[in-house]
Amino acid sequence: MLELTGKTILVTGGSRGIGAATVRAVAAAGADVVLHYNRSRAAAEALAIEVGVERCHLVAAAFESDSDVTRLWDQALAWKGRIDVLISNAGVHEWTPFEGDFQDWTALWHRTMQINLFAAAHLCRAAVLHFCERGGGIVIAVTSNAAHRGSWPDSVQYAASKAGIKNLAQSIARGFAKDNVLAYALAPGLTRTGLSERYYEAHPSALADLDRNLPLGEWAPPEDVARMAAFLATGAVRNATGTTIDVNGASYVR
Ligand SMILES: NC(=O)c1ccc[n+]([C@@H]2O[C@H](COP(=O)([O-])OP(=O)(O)OC[C@H]3O[C@@H](n4cnc5c(N)ncnc54)[C@H](OP(=O)(O)O)[C@@H]3O)[C@@H](O)[C@H]2O)c1
Repeated sequence: MLELTGKTILVTGGSRGIGAATVRAVAAAGADVVLHYNRSRAAAEALAIEVGVERCHLVAAAFESDSDVTRLWDQALAWKGRIDVLISNAGVHEWTPFEGDFQDWTALWHRTMQINLFAAAHLCRAAVLHFCERGGGIVIAVTSNAAHRGSWPDSVQYAASKAGIKNLAQSIARGFAKDNVLAYALAPGLTRTGLSERYYEAHPSALADLDRNLPLGEWAPPEDVARMAAFLATGAVRNATGTTIDVNGASYVR
């Protein structure tokens, strides 16, 4: 039984998929949750009612905007006056042909890096500075198995952004261990959410290839990733800081 009572946890991208499952998992373990969402306001509001509105604070922010990211951190912190754990999960996986138009290519690189990496780095920096002031804290940065092995040719920018996230968690772990800051990269494999379903519906041949390489014979449910995030949020294994934890059903063994 996981115990997170008394902790305040910020989950980005908490409105859907892995983030929504994570909100449920940390709330079930007793945490107060700041649920960040972007467009899925109705889903975020329904989830807050499900876990208890007094224990779930909603903040909207579009990660295309640096000022929105700053405001998200400020509003998250203002709720209880502290954040104990940042679960940096929000992300996009979009695609454009490798051989296609250069303007489309470069626009997608900028958009993906801004949402997946720069906004996450901005939040991690704010969290680490806060943790250093108050004697410690935990960063859990959701990366991907694409960070280890790359992605398909039309979404190379996604894999690059996820490699950046993984590296960010490693630097935080090494640089701020002395301040009692722990940092983990959490690397899901194929997980059944809107993000993966959209990509693979548009790429049936990639899906067939992937389906042949799932030893457990299934897409992971988001709840599996969420349970690992909730476990890491307890800080139970301090010496695992700096590691990347795979939740991929042995589809990619390092
Ligand atoms: N699903 C997989 O197979 C898989 C595998 C490896 C890694 N991951 C990683 O896991 C994380 C969660 O993915 P998921 O599969 O749960 O995706 P998802 O179901 O599509 O949910 C994505 C979340 O990110 C938020 N978001 C999207 N664009 C945003 C933006 N511009 N600004 C702020 N927030 C934004 C969404 O908010 P709104 O809905 O409110 O707009 C939503 O809550 C991502 O970082 C992804 O890269 C997923």
